[in-house]
Amino acid sequence: MKMVSMKKLCVLPFLCALGCISSVTSIGNSSGGTIDGSETWGYVEVRPRAHMFWWLYKSPNKPKHPTKPWPTILWLQGGPGGSGVGFGNFGELGPVDVDLKPRNSTWLQKADLLFVDSPVGTGYSYVEDESLFVKTDVEAAIDVTTLLKAIYNGNNTMSPLYIFAESYGGKFAVTLALAALQAIEKQELKLQLGGVALGDSWISPEDFVLSWGPLLKDVSRIDDVGLNKSNSLALNIQQQIADGQYEKATNSWSYLEEVISDSSNGVDFYNFMLDDENDPTILSTKSSKRFGKKPYAMVSEADGNDLDSVMNGPIRQKLKIIPSDVEWGGQSGGVFNAMEGDFMRPRIAEVDELLLKGVNVTVYNGQVDLICATKGTEAWINKLKWNGLSTYLNLARTPLYCGEDKSTTKGFFKAYQNFAFYWILGAGHFVSLLFSS
Ligand SMILES: *[C@@H]1O[C@H](CO)[C@@H](O)[C@H](O)[C@H]1NC(C)=O
Ligand SMILES: *[C@@H]1O[C@H](CO)[C@@H](O)[C@H](O)[C@H]1NC(C)=O
Ligand SMILES: *[C@@H]1O[C@H](CO)[C@@H](O)[C@H](O)[C@H]1NC(C)=O
Ligand SMILES: *[C@@H]1O[C@H](CO)[C@@H](O)[C@H](O)[C@H]1NC(C)=O
Ligand SMILES: *[C@@H]1O[C@H](CO)[C@@H](O)[C@H](O)[C@H]1NC(C)=O
Repeated sequence: MKMVSMKKLCVLPFLCALGCISSVTSIGNSSGGTIDGSETWGYVEVRPRAHMFWWLYKSPNKPKHPTKPWPTILWLQGGPGGSGVGFGNFGELGPVDVDLKPRNSTWLQKADLLFVDSPVGTGYSYVEDESLFVKTDVEAAIDVTTLLKAIYNGNNTMSPLYIFAESYGGKFAVTLALAALQAIEKQELKLQLGGVALGDSWISPEDFVLSWGPLLKDVSRIDDVGLNKSNSLALNIQQQIADGQYEKATNSWSYLEEVISDSSNGVDFYNFMLDDENDPTILSTKSSKRFGKKPYAMVSEADGNDLDSVMNGPIRQKLKIIPSDVEWGGQSGGVFNAMEGDFMRPRIAEVDELLLKGVNVTVYNGQVDLICATKGTEAWINKLKWNGLSTYLNLARTPLYCGEDKSTTKGFFKAYQNFAFYWILGAGHFVSLLFSS
């Protein structure tokens, strides 16, 4: 995200209080779909007057008589406040792109895809009162678990659910996986959890902010003066987190981004090899023009130069069930602001709990990402209490190539027990884009 966007974010609650929420009316639970049944979508009222939107695509490639269970991928976008139904689906990996043209590399070739606009207030999801925004990752996880119960129960699905997350979505993914497992154990949710995949995920904010200065200094993007300022602020954030002052830490994080931006002449937080102004994956949207910059943090705007008009135009016409007074993305700023007190809270312990429960956890990280830099990701992995850690750390990595071409290393991989890590060379924050192309 950009510094300017954070400054804007601070004034957003007032904008939202005035404009976004008052006129929204409830439509209860509803659903729709295509005639051939390949797509279904709907709203679930996850709490009274809090409405979550979901969209499920069934893969045309699923064999008639599969020899092993056909997977479903649940995609969780970042932000908080980024729309999975919009950015993830049309911008990154769904069957059609933002120009509504087929995407050859869609993940639908390999799995069924379930997109959700979570937390409520994101994308097409909406709340009828500002007090209904979630304030923590755990509250968001409970809402999605309620949604999963509503859409899966009664269906005899053997399809294992793989939770894939990007950026802030990683904190949602690990808390959701635990909430879902609990519901499965209590037999309230009939589902098999396949695993969790964390792409450039904001699991430990402290480790990321501490990585920024040293990383940028090593690649000549800041000097010693910038490094000193950055480190001082990062240490301050570390202390605030240790003291449980999470809202203060969120403000300091926003300030640190400004300092880094000034010290680096505008480095791109999603790809430190670029300038903020010319990252091709972050094109401007209507909403960004409206707010000066993006209204929320850590969301891909890949190809999304006009995602707003697509989502509020042809897509809502296709879906038919979006209430006329609900604007796609209209409550996003409010979603982010309501989570200010949880934004900087680490979720390393949740990763440990999943590993202990035997859930497959896969981490993948883009080499040139800054906001969720590999350096920070490795730092939090080193803090795991998982008893496989030291063996994992001492394993050799396996190089990865593209197809038959063994002349260029595209990444590295290593795994031990139920934990795996993929280093993706050349990729920035939005690794899924590279996977897709
Ligand atoms: C997608 O696939 C079609 C048919 O195989 C091909 O003609 C087209 O060039 C591909 N598009 C891209 C962007 O790769
Ligand atoms: C909508 O679905 C949720 C979850 O299953 C349920 O708790 C709620 O009562 C439903 N609301 C209506 C209006 O049917
Ligand atoms: C559950 O079954 C209903 C009715 O067959 C269908 O509309 C819906 O898409 C199914 N849900 C999932 C998650 O497969
Ligand atoms: C978990 O990972 C192991 C090792 O890669 C694999 O054999 C197993 O099938 C995975 N489990 C699921 C549910 O995908
Ligand atoms: C920053 O520089 C000052 C003055 O040289 C020094 O006292 C301080 O320890 C430095 N801070 C960090 C975090 O390196």
